Amino acid sequence: MPDETPYSRPVHEPAIRVMMMPRDTNAHGTIFGGVLLSYVDQAGAIAARKLGCARVVTVAMDSVEFKHPVFVGDVLSFYAEVTKIGRTSARIRITVVAERFEPPCENEPVTTAELVYVAIDEDRKAIPFAECRIQDAATAAAKKKK
Ligand SMILES: CC(C)(COP(=O)(O)OP(=O)(O)OC[C@H]1O[C@@H](n2cnc3c(N)ncnc32)[C@H](O)[C@@H]1OP(=O)(O)O)[C@@H](O)C(=O)NCCC(=O)NCCS
Repeated sequence: MPDETPYSRPVHEPAIRVMMMPRDTNAHGTIFGGVLLSYVDQAGAIAARKLGCARVVTVAMDSVEFKHPVFVGDVLSFYAEVTKIGRTSARIRITVVAERFEPPCENEPVTTAELVYVAIDEDRKAIPFAECRIQDAATAAAKKKK
């Protein structure tokens, strides 16, 4: 029997799942960090939008750690967890888990990141989460009337 406890998948659904393609590689043949960051940012934005505001922007990528390489054919799941909600900003932790292409196709956490998103209004100014929900509802109602 192996000593190590097998990695257990987070219980919630990933914000994004995506298979890595040859176009995503760097000069070493592994997946380019910038490609991963792009998906990390998208996953965080999807989670931030679920807080109720249609418009959110990334204000900070506080930390990123690429713990293990990612390979062509790996299927990546980007799990997003809201760790703090402020007045206009939300901090989100992303955990990226690779389902390896090569048998036995094990799951392995490969990257973690911490990002901060800010809710903004139509003029791209920071807006409290509570207020933008009201504004979004008012905009939707006005559109319906047209
Ligand atoms: C996001 C943006 C609207 C914030 O404007 P701002 O005038 O700095 O707004 P504020 O100073 O009121 O800060 C807004 C919130 O962000 C937080 N914040 C600002 N800079 C931060 C940083 N570097 N790290 C963490 N949080 C930060 C503030 O603490 C505040 O949070 P709170 O209201 O929950 O307390 C503005 O900086 C911006 O437009 N940045 C560009 C965003 C962008 O283009 N991103 C890339 C593409 S999505």
